[in-house]
Amino acid sequence: MLDPFWGKTRAGAGEGDARMNYRHHYHAGNFADVLKHAVLALLVANLTRKPKGFAVIDTHGGAGIYDLLQGPSQKTLEWRDGIGRVLAARDGAPPALLPYFQAMQGDKGRYPGSPLLAGRLMRAQDRLYVCELHPEDAALLKAAMAGEAALLPRVQVVAGDGYRNLLRQVPPQERRGLVLIDPPFEAADEFERLAQAVIAAHRAWAQGCYLLWYPVKDGAAAAAFEAEIQTHGIADILRVRLRVRGGGEGLCETGLIIINPVYPLEDQLRAVLPWLSSVLAQGEGAGFDLLRLAAE
Ligand SMILES: C[S@@+](CC[C@H](N)C(=O)[O-])C[C@H]1O[C@@H](n2cnc3c(N)ncnc32)[C@H](O)[C@@H]1O
Repeated sequence: MLDPFWGKTRAGAGEGDARMNYRHHYHAGNFADVLKHAVLALLVANLTRKPKGFAVIDTHGGAGIYDLLQGPSQKTLEWRDGIGRVLAARDGAPPALLPYFQAMQGDKGRYPGSPLLAGRLMRAQDRLYVCELHPEDAALLKAAMAGEAALLPRVQVVAGDGYRNLLRQVPPQERRGLVLIDPPFEAADEFERLAQAVIAAHRAWAQGCYLLWYPVKDGAAAAAFEAEIQTHGIADILRVRLRVRGGGEGLCETGLIIINPVYPLEDQLRAVLPWLSSVLAQGEGAGFDLLRLAAE
């Protein structure tokens, strides 16, 4: 199947359901994952600055942990230009990236996905709720979480639709926390679904932090999505863009929208983004920007 966002045929599960071919194993640890996970780790670590417990709701959880040294990761080798570069350069990394590195410790040759990264930074009083729709990946995710004994009592893994379940989870009983929405962008209407889900969730829980990932393959589609998020009276929105090269095969640019960024994320990003951008740059046109889309 030709993937409009990654710009190449994606190997994956059977051809049965066109929406369910995506497997994150092919892309784990690539530059887009690095940016998303570095920001996720910062947000979770910032939430732990206050003693009160919080919830992390991860709507598209993936398979949990990815073997970078065999199988799909070895076919694409995308991780080499992502986490491979970042780990090789980590001695010069800004201190703000410590939570990200800390959450990966001990995973030799394997890369933890968003539920593991977040869960490992959380405390006994915090709670993690994760959805994954692909039945095989949901089973892998459950097994990966079962391997993290310390996390188990405060983790719920649900095999199901993350968009639908999100609206049942907000506001969380803790009234503090973070929603990560990281869809595969396989379906043509993914930007619309993402925008609708965020707007509805924000209506139910305006105080929550929302971290939204998206590819910037079609600049007009990404800009229309960002504009849509801005037109619903949502305050305190940051936008991050990271480009590893000006153009060419495959994904070159990725975006994040962060609603209610947990303090002091904006300052931390000013330190982290220049370093990440220089380490991940693959050629001319590489760069980043950090924009405020809505005031606090
Ligand atoms: C980009 S991957 C997630 C990666 C993960 N968040 C991480 O950072 O490690 C997207 C995942 O969403 C799953 N998925 C697709 N549609 C979904 C839906 N409606 N609800 C929940 N999961 C879905 C896919 O099977 C895939 O595993």
